[in-house]
Amino acid sequence: MKQFADLSAWRSYRRELAGASLGFVPTMGALHAGHEALVEASVAQNDMTAVSIFINPTQFDQAADLAAYPKELERDLGMLERCGVDAVLLPDYEQLYPDGFRYRVTEGELAARFCGEHRPGHFDGVLTVVMRLLNVVRPDRAYFGEKDYQQLQLVRGMVESFFMDVEIVACPTVRAADGVAMSSRNQRLDPAQRKVAPALRRALQNSSSPSQAARLLQRAGFDVDYVDDFNGRRLAAARLGDVRLIDNVPLETNDAG
Ligand code: PAF
Repeated sequence: MKQFADLSAWRSYRRELAGASLGFVPTMGALHAGHEALVEASVAQNDMTAVSIFINPTQFDQAADLAAYPKELERDLGMLERCGVDAVLLPDYEQLYPDGFRYRVTEGELAARFCGEHRPGHFDGVLTVVMRLLNVVRPDRAYFGEKDYQQLQLVRGMVESFFMDVEIVACPTVRAADGVAMSSRNQRLDPAQRKVAPALRRALQNSSSPSQAARLLQRAGFDVDYVDDFNGRRLAAARLGDVRLIDNVPLETNDAG
């Protein structure tokens, strides 16, 4: 597995790949089984797979959240090597943002709703770094998890709107045995909070309306940012202490729906 801290070295390497199909998984590290599923899908569907690890500061609306983001580079690299990844990109801020974020991608509607309403500027940061990464990596396919459903829709919309020559592949949410969606933030839950966490998915599944789901979540001990229905799915973000969890389920699987 090759490592590229220097993006110009990656770009020369990329030119040599010529006809080989390239899959790409962008990440912020602290990799878990959800990332592993994205990488496995890419390895199965492409001749080569590249993964980026970059904790993108422009998508964090809270400095404390950015500072608390877990960093586990050695463990991450071991996992990617075992999965058969060919190249890992490890850029720093100066390389990805030579303009200092003066140029950015803004979506004018969906990005202000749901998570965007509670995290101002978050999706500008996400879309901007994803566009930069896609332009540098130049993959045939890029892989995103359905857990971040709003992010997935916005990335798809950006790729279509800017005629970007890449296929966006969505992969289903990977869950722990108790139903909690895999997330790098889960490791910040204390044992008592971890016991409460499965109630998030249960509330989305066992509710007949967003307001009922919000009530179930409050009763379980969550501070609810939002619960809403969008595109045939019930989406929510809710906090246990200072850990913010998000999840979504298709509405047709709702027991009470
Ligand atoms: O989903 C994530 O981990 C991030 O939002 C992404 C797509 C890697 C952009 O920083």
